[in-house]
Amino acid sequence: MTTDNQSGAGSRGELKQAPGGYLSGFGNEFATEAVPGALPQGQNSPQRAPYGLYAEQLSGSAFTAPRRENRRSWLYRIRPSANHPAFEPHPQGLVRSGPFDEVPVSPNRLRWSPQPAPAGKVDFVEGLVTYAGNGDPATGAGISIHLYAANTSMVDRVFQDADGELLLVPQAGRLRLVTEMGVLDLAPGDVGVVPRGVRFRAEVPDGKAAGYICENHGAFFRLPDLGPIGANGLANPRDFLTPVAAYEDVDRPTTVIQKFAGKLWASRFDHSPLDVVAWHGNLAPYKYDLARFNTINTVSYDHPDPSIFTVLTSPSEIPGTANCDFVIFPPRWMVAEHTFRPPWFHRNVMSEFMGLVQGVYDAKAGGFAPGGASLHNCMSGHGPDQASYEGAINADLKPHKIKDTLAFMFESRWVIRPTRFAMETPALQSDYDHCWSGFQKAKLP
Ligand SMILES: [Fe+2]
Repeated sequence: MTTDNQSGAGSRGELKQAPGGYLSGFGNEFATEAVPGALPQGQNSPQRAPYGLYAEQLSGSAFTAPRRENRRSWLYRIRPSANHPAFEPHPQGLVRSGPFDEVPVSPNRLRWSPQPAPAGKVDFVEGLVTYAGNGDPATGAGISIHLYAANTSMVDRVFQDADGELLLVPQAGRLRLVTEMGVLDLAPGDVGVVPRGVRFRAEVPDGKAAGYICENHGAFFRLPDLGPIGANGLANPRDFLTPVAAYEDVDRPTTVIQKFAGKLWASRFDHSPLDVVAWHGNLAPYKYDLARFNTINTVSYDHPDPSIFTVLTSPSEIPGTANCDFVIFPPRWMVAEHTFRPPWFHRNVMSEFMGLVQGVYDAKAGGFAPGGASLHNCMSGHGPDQASYEGAINADLKPHKIKDTLAFMFESRWVIRPTRFAMETPALQSDYDHCWSGFQKAKLP
């Protein structure tokens, strides 16, 4: 669900925000200013920017990327973002990155129970735990999959990720991301995307928050092509929301932590860098309420491939073979006739990491809990567990609605390699294979 829009001009604490709610549309050329007249008109870099603001281009793609791939924004800020001392190595915690060779990767199916709540005070950065990934941020390919869990807001601390854009999937508790380019208020049921390099502070209005992150080192997430579906459907562009400009003018020391080439680094700024008074461009944070997803499925027979549930895709250089697809399994009607309705048994050249925001996933009657995760790597047999299978083949095939469910998948062309933490955490279920062990033989004539 989408939280309140935080619309209207004014301040929220030390934050001063442009009037209006979120800006609507996917990848639009937006323009927003928190102070009237702060945004230069007719050019990007005037000799003197309004109010003495510093003009800065944030390039999310190469200058020469084709126009349809080109993402950049112009930021007008109180101080140039170059205004800081050197970064020093910062404790790494449980954040890991490519090449993900801490432990050998196996072909085994893996599933994790939810992690216990963190002990002591833990903010968003301290509570990051990397489960798996592939590729390498240094080569601009692959993904890293993290879980976050925080019970305190970041105070005078700001994070930036030079290694990729962050797709956040809240599972419990609201998460408020105060970014350089405005405020994203996220709740379970929403997803949010913060572009590579955009600085933000994560706040937890409910006192605790947890969820999943896909850190995308490859091509930007975008809406999938729709082919014969037509001009509308799946995630509609107008439902993506980008924040209006918001800034704070704070001279307190602020620790900026960044992830760069897989490592965490920190620098002590003498001010808050969340000081962008106005900006324009097409590189910006955005959020999307997954309840807006126009879910398409069969109205005759057989379950289509789960790609029919793709929300966002990060393509690779091979057409139709994603660096990462973000796919959801939302509430939906099941009406297929003479059909095994849950997702079928499957072996896939693509590798599949799943999480569950809420409810029950229709292919797993037990063991896959909200906050948990599973990993089915390239060519690993997976599918419904025995209880779900028995239920599905004996079901009365009336139309019925799967309610109170929201599972998702990060699907990648490359094998997803677990971290040492993921392989050694007590949350790793040692008996996962067992859910497929009781099937009866087929009875041939
Ligand atoms: Fe699958």
